[in-house]
Amino acid sequence: MKKTKPIEKNAKTVNRYLKTKLKGNPKILYDAAGHLIINGGKRLRPYMVIKSCQILGGKTSKAMQAASAVEMVHNFTLVHDDIMDNDEMRHGVPTVHKKFGMPVAILAGDVLFSKAFQIISDSKLSGNAMTQIISRLATACVKVCEGQIMDIKMAEGKKIPSQSEYIKMIGKKTAALFDVSCAMGAICATNKTTDVANLSSFGNNLGIAFQITDDLIGVMGDPKVTKKPVGNDLREGKKSLPILMAIKSAKGKNKTMILKAFGNQKASKSDVKKAVNVIRALGIEENVRSQALKYAERAEKSLSKYSGVAKNELVELLDFVVKRSL
Ligand code: IPE
Ligand code: IPE
Ligand code: MG
Ligand code: MG
Repeated sequence: MKKTKPIEKNAKTVNRYLKTKLKGNPKILYDAAGHLIINGGKRLRPYMVIKSCQILGGKTSKAMQAASAVEMVHNFTLVHDDIMDNDEMRHGVPTVHKKFGMPVAILAGDVLFSKAFQIISDSKLSGNAMTQIISRLATACVKVCEGQIMDIKMAEGKKIPSQSEYIKMIGKKTAALFDVSCAMGAICATNKTTDVANLSSFGNNLGIAFQITDDLIGVMGDPKVTKKPVGNDLREGKKSLPILMAIKSAKGKNKTMILKAFGNQKASKSDVKKAVNVIRALGIEENVRSQALKYAERAEKSLSKYSGVAKNELVELLDFVVKRSL
C-alpha cells in the first residue's frame, strides 16, 4: 500500500517549513537534528494536524506551526528511541547516534523538543488556543516518556505481558502523539470541546492501529521497503503484539527457535533470521492485522458526524495505516 497523494503533497509543504526552522549554529547540532527528517519519514502526524483543522473548516496556514512542532517532537522521540533500542539504521541511513555520536544525538533530540514549543509560542494563535496546545503537547510528551519506559522495562523483564498491558504501553508511547496531533489541529480551527474530543479519539485509535501494524512490520517487514532492520525487536526482547502472539502459538522446535533469539543480545544474525522465518510461517499476520483493524474502525466511528474532503482523506489515512508495509 502506497502513501496517498495528499499525504505526499502535505509532506512537501511541511518539509519546506521545517527546513527554515532547523538552522543555526553550531551547524553539527542542526545537521544532527535534521538528519532523519532530510533522509525520509512519512510526516503522518503533521498530516493529521492539518486534516483535523480542515475537517472543522480551519485554514491550513493556521495549523502549520502545530504540524511542524509535532514532527519535531516525533523526531526527538525517534533520535532518543534509537539510542534506547540499540538501532543502527533508520530511513536507510545510520541513526543519529551512530552517525554523530551519543552526546550530539542526545542534544539533537533536546533541541528538536525545545524548538517544537518555541514554534508554537511564536505563532499567531489566540492566547486560549496556544495555552491549550502547549499544555496538551506537553502532556503528550510526558505520556511518551511513560510509554517508552514501560516498553523498556517490559523488554528487560521475563514476564510475558497481557494484550491489554501491551495496548496500554503503545497507547502512551505512540498513540499519545497521534491523539494530540488531531486535538491540536482541531483546536486551531474551533473551540468546541466535542469536536476536539472526537478528533482526539480518532487520533488515539489510529495511533494504536498504527503501532500494532508497525510492530508487525518490525518482524515481518521487508527492510528494503521499511528502510529499517527486521528482527531487532525480537533480539531486544520487545513485547510487541506479533511477538507475543508468536510465542503463544508456536510449539516444539519452532518455539525453541523463537526463544533462542528472543531477548538475547548475543543471538547470531542467523539465529534471529531463523526465528523471524519461523514467526512468518506461523501465519499470525492476519490475526495481528485484524487487531489493528479493530482500532481503525473505532477511529472511523469518531468521525461519523463529519463529511467533506478532509474527512475522506482521514479515512483513507486509516486504510493506509492498517494496510501499510512501510
Ligand atoms: C515510527 O513512526 C515510530 C513509531 C511510532 C512506530 P513513523 O513510521 O511515523 O516514522 P517516520 O515516518 O519514519 O517519521
Ligand atoms: C515507537 O518506537 C515509539 C517512539 C519512538 C516514541 P518503536 O521503537 O516501537 O519504533 P521503531 O520500530 O523504532 O520505529
Ligand atoms: Mg525503536
Ligand atoms: Mg522503541
